[in-house]
Amino acid sequence: MTVFHQSTRKTITGHAPLRSALRDTQTYSSDLQGDADVRDYRQLPLEVDPPLHHLYRSALAPYFVKPAIEKHAESFRKNSESLLKIYFAAEPKEVVSDLALPLVMHNLGVIYNRPQDVEEWISWGPDVWTAESEKRDGAVLHRYLDSVYEEAVRHETRDIYGEIANLEIAGKRISPLEFRGIVGVLLAGGRDTVVKLLTGIMWHFARTDELMQIRSKEITINSAIQEFLRFLTPLPLMNRTTTPETGASDLPEDRYVGMSFISGNFDQTVFEEPFTLNLNRARNPHLSFGFGPHTCLGNHIAEIEARVFMETLSDSNLNWKIHTEEINFHSTPFEKVPDQFKSLKVVLR
Ligand code: HEM
Repeated sequence: MTVFHQSTRKTITGHAPLRSALRDTQTYSSDLQGDADVRDYRQLPLEVDPPLHHLYRSALAPYFVKPAIEKHAESFRKNSESLLKIYFAAEPKEVVSDLALPLVMHNLGVIYNRPQDVEEWISWGPDVWTAESEKRDGAVLHRYLDSVYEEAVRHETRDIYGEIANLEIAGKRISPLEFRGIVGVLLAGGRDTVVKLLTGIMWHFARTDELMQIRSKEITINSAIQEFLRFLTPLPLMNRTTTPETGASDLPEDRYVGMSFISGNFDQTVFEEPFTLNLNRARNPHLSFGFGPHTCLGNHIAEIEARVFMETLSDSNLNWKIHTEEINFHSTPFEKVPDQFKSLKVVLR
């Protein structure tokens, strides 16, 4: 989920300051319009404050609890196995577009019970706002959201859209715009973030022998996933506003404050040698899923998808190395941390 915001007046950094700012929704409000160039409605529950936030969040939470996602693990495994087979079958291919993105989209197709949409979602690429050209545009996503909303209110399908279209918030059935706001973030949230996580995993095991230590159980898959989440910080920063935007007539230019999740994840008062990717790190209270009321709703999806992917890698006899790579790294002090995998091809060793 990359949300485009105007530049910020200041940025909150450091693990403890971030946690307290993320809890303080009065001072640092989420009542703001992100991606203002491509949409004019709020992503929900992301861009509203409590108490309204709580109503959306509690209506959606049952679809995202651990047992609801865990029941799809076997399907995730089949998707991982078949896409890895295709990926390594012939000439070197892109990890992002030929492995991670299709895998994440096939898995979402299972969770949302929308297998018929998977190819369309893949065709959008990792960022739906640039699905048709390099210029950011909401047309592709909005056409899709309007069409699935029509289907959902006509009760034509039994899937997550039918459930969401019929949710009641404060006694009222949700509106078409609220549907856009909820489903938009459910599609965007689990897209580029998980793609980056899985791509980072492939990148790391291409450059080290540590998959052998996963295979021999010297490193547990769970601690490895938490460390990949910390080190890669797939969503490095989100904004808050010091002036809630709803109904405000005068919005100060300098109202935005950045919440730097990445700075919390590399805070050396919390993480020993934070710039070392240590898959055996014992304690790992990373902030990659945020903190406080807006903590990621899809954290179990991301963790279970990554776990099943790593189990599949561990159970296979695949070992690979870098063929070619073009990676943009974050700027100092995070210059060891990949920001964007522009190109990554790996081949069997
Ligand atoms: C590695 C993968 C992921 C990362 C790193 C990540 C990161 C985050 C972060 C940092 C936030 C908090 C934003 C804020 O405080 O402003 C968030 C919120 C959210 N995420 Fe994720 N996310 C991931 C995967 C997913 C998935 C798979 C989904 C669903 C399919 C999802 C759906 C959401 C939603 C709906 C919210 C808003 C929650 C709220 O406002 O109450 N995310 N995510």
